[in-house]
Amino acid sequence: MKPALKIHDLAASVGETEILKGLDLEVPFGEIHAIMGPNGSGKSTTCHVLTGHPVYEVSGTATLADVDLLDKSIEERARMGLLQGFQYPTEIPGVPLRDFMVEAGEERGLSSEEVLDRIEREAKRFDMTRFLDRAVNNDLSGGEKKRSEIFQMAVLDPKLMMLDEIDSGLDIDAVRQVAEAVEAARKPELGVLMITHYSRILAYLSPDRIHVMLDGRIVESGGPELADELEDAGYDAIRERLGIEVKPKAVQKRPADLLTDTPFDV
Ligand SMILES: Nc1ncnc2c1ncn2[C@@H]1O[C@H](COP(=O)(O)OP(=O)(O)OP(=O)(O)O)[C@@H](O)[C@H]1O
Ligand SMILES: [Mg+2]
Repeated sequence: MKPALKIHDLAASVGETEILKGLDLEVPFGEIHAIMGPNGSGKSTTCHVLTGHPVYEVSGTATLADVDLLDKSIEERARMGLLQGFQYPTEIPGVPLRDFMVEAGEERGLSSEEVLDRIEREAKRFDMTRFLDRAVNNDLSGGEKKRSEIFQMAVLDPKLMMLDEIDSGLDIDAVRQVAEAVEAARKPELGVLMITHYSRILAYLSPDRIHVMLDGRIVESGGPELADELEDAGYDAIRERLGIEVKPKAVQKRPADLLTDTPFDV
């Protein structure tokens, strides 16, 4: 079966700065994959490049259900079924969630009856009914906003959901709820790519593959056990195993050291 997402040799740079350096990744339909990687390794950039952020100079290939993505506009990519959930979902005061979803659903090519039907059904499934007449994401708690993102995507019936740090800033119960919402969204016509720093969200859902991203590339892929290994040994263990140079950490100075340091030659 053709994959939901297939990325080959993807490179992205801004000016002279290379960020993605030949990334390969495949997410089959029906599967949930997670990318883990240290700060600055290029995880969010991968999402931005796939959705079509114009700041990046891009080469390589990326397809959604075998259709090339990189030559399409942002709007075309969204209509094709590529949707992203954000770490900090935008609040839209004055626009009720139901009206917003009707507009978005019609843009996605659903009839208004179909979209109203989907809104009611998915709102029940993700416990969002009481938020339908409130403004989009306005005054929702962090966990409610993340659930709302997944609800909105479920209504719009994407082929690929990208969830960038969907678990950050959430308490333990909210992490579990959001993980359960992701798992509930799983279906054979959908691929899910989630980015996370913590293996704790992976305890509440069943990712099919974990990919480790270092310095703009996927350097290792494996089953859920890879997340536990990362939690125990950190990224340096993977760097050492793969013979990747370990970057020296910035020297952390204690406040007391700063006081005793002599800043100038005197
Ligand atoms: N528009 C840009 N201009 C310059 N540098 C950029 C731009 N976008 C991203 N970068 C750089 O690319 C690198 C990767 O950033 P990215 O946001 O993808 O990291 P990340 O893996 O998502 O990290 P985090 O875990 O902290 O969210 C960083 O060093 C960042 O500063
Ligand atoms: Mg990021």
